[in-house]
Amino acid sequence: MAHATTQAPRREAFSSRNVFILSAIGSAVGLGNIWRFPYVAYEGGGGAFLIPYLCALLTAGIPLLFFDYAIGHRFRGSAPLAFRRMHRAAEPLGWWQVLICVVIAAYYAVIIAWAAMYTWFSARLSWGAGNEENFFFTEFLQLGDVGADGLSGSFVPQVGLPLIAVWLVVIAIMALGVKRGIGRANMVLMPLLTTMFVILVVQALFLPGAADGLNAFFTPNWAALADPAVWAAAYGHIFFSLSVAFGIMVTYSSYLKRKTDLTGSGLVVGFANSGFEILAGIGVFAALGFMAQAAGTDVSNQASAGIGLAFVAFPTIVSQATGGSIIGVLFFGALVFAGITSLISVLEVVVSALQDKLGWGRVRTTLVVTIPIGLVSIALFSTTTALLVLDTADAFINAFGIMAGAFVAVIVVSWVLYKLPVLREHLNRRSSFRVGRVWMLLVGVLAPVVLGYLLVSEIIAKSAEPYGGYPVWFLWVFGWGMVIGLIVLAVLLSLLPWSSRSHAKDDPDYDEFLQVESYTPDSETGTVRLPGGTQKGAGA
Ligand code: ALA
Repeated sequence: MAHATTQAPRREAFSSRNVFILSAIGSAVGLGNIWRFPYVAYEGGGGAFLIPYLCALLTAGIPLLFFDYAIGHRFRGSAPLAFRRMHRAAEPLGWWQVLICVVIAAYYAVIIAWAAMYTWFSARLSWGAGNEENFFFTEFLQLGDVGADGLSGSFVPQVGLPLIAVWLVVIAIMALGVKRGIGRANMVLMPLLTTMFVILVVQALFLPGAADGLNAFFTPNWAALADPAVWAAAYGHIFFSLSVAFGIMVTYSSYLKRKTDLTGSGLVVGFANSGFEILAGIGVFAALGFMAQAAGTDVSNQASAGIGLAFVAFPTIVSQATGGSIIGVLFFGALVFAGITSLISVLEVVVSALQDKLGWGRVRTTLVVTIPIGLVSIALFSTTTALLVLDTADAFINAFGIMAGAFVAVIVVSWVLYKLPVLREHLNRRSSFRVGRVWMLLVGVLAPVVLGYLLVSEIIAKSAEPYGGYPVWFLWVFGWGMVIGLIVLAVLLSLLPWSSRSHAKDDPDYDEFLQVESYTPDSETGTVRLPGGTQKGAGA
């Protein structure tokens, strides 16, 4: 079919299903798996946490992963375009997910920059024995105080310079496009990451005291199962960890060829992510067991919160264990690789959305999207107040960005637009694992109930007392204000007209897709698609 020169560029695609699966695993396996999961699991009752965790994976994580795949693949677009094709009024849901990714990308990059510096520090044991905590907070981050200093934090070069480097690497990968950039980066980095991680875990298992750490991790604390907060933590973690409900899997599946086994791919991605996560838990707790034995204390004294676990505990192991530098280089190197493959997926949500809306080429869109986000990221997160902004933005974006966005999306798609049967039929067209009514019940009933409960409890908890003890003005700017601003902006972006070259107005791929799949006429968008790619009706 000949296309006029004004037509939008054809949609990019992964070179094969395997590259897609590798990239989806690359997105899922990230900082969340390596430093967040072990700590959350430990806090949630050790071995007993695995029960709520597996329930969350099977009842919400995998079903919503299928939900995202079905939306992206059936409506063949970035999040705003896919939701718009489902129904014009649903477009803000897509922009909400895009804006969540803008916020996550800005702070995610700085953790990769820290890890890159710590890979180097590990080789040189830069922190000095016994000084790990002080080194991280005072010497490396030069942590200030928002209460006293406001936001006038000064530039910290040892954070700012690697952060600039992270952005340059990521921008270069993204500018190369889906096939040559994202696909290839994952094909190189994922096998490397897996090899490094397996070596690290095996090495950690041979540390003296490793068994005590594993006991602490795997010994069930059954009482924890009665605590709703533990269940909330499990469900909350699964979304971030699987990269579900913030546009990533919608975007990635829109780059899949038509004839693809969606659910089969989803099962591979979901279980690979969890396998990695549990492996990370084993490695980290074996190492904590070693630390506890060396310090003559209990393992519970070693498990400090999120960021502290990686950047304080691991340097301690590096200083104390034989071959510690190798453990450090493997651990922080793995964190860098896992972080980069996730960061590019987060940014792809934004690049893809603007490409669809404006009909621009790859390089131009990448530069216009990533340079401003990179500059904000560098401005906010290479200063002495970076950790405080990061902590607040992360807590609020997870609760009121991802979880609230997922809650609204499942309600709108299930109960306002009644699209679950369409999505289910689409999933079952080519997939090896067919989804039945149970999937619709999980997405349409159980997910809204659980997410609704989690949201209410988060609102109560975060309103009852200032999060993290931060000043109220600070929480209004980087917490509540950011979330409200993001929702308003999502609506405003959906009101902007789509360019005449945008994929919503003119998409030969989608026309062909609908014809081959015999979806015409497209009752969902109210658009009648005619042979030859022309259209009539209210599509865009
Ligand atoms: N899924 C990614 C992670 O776990 C974002 O870090």
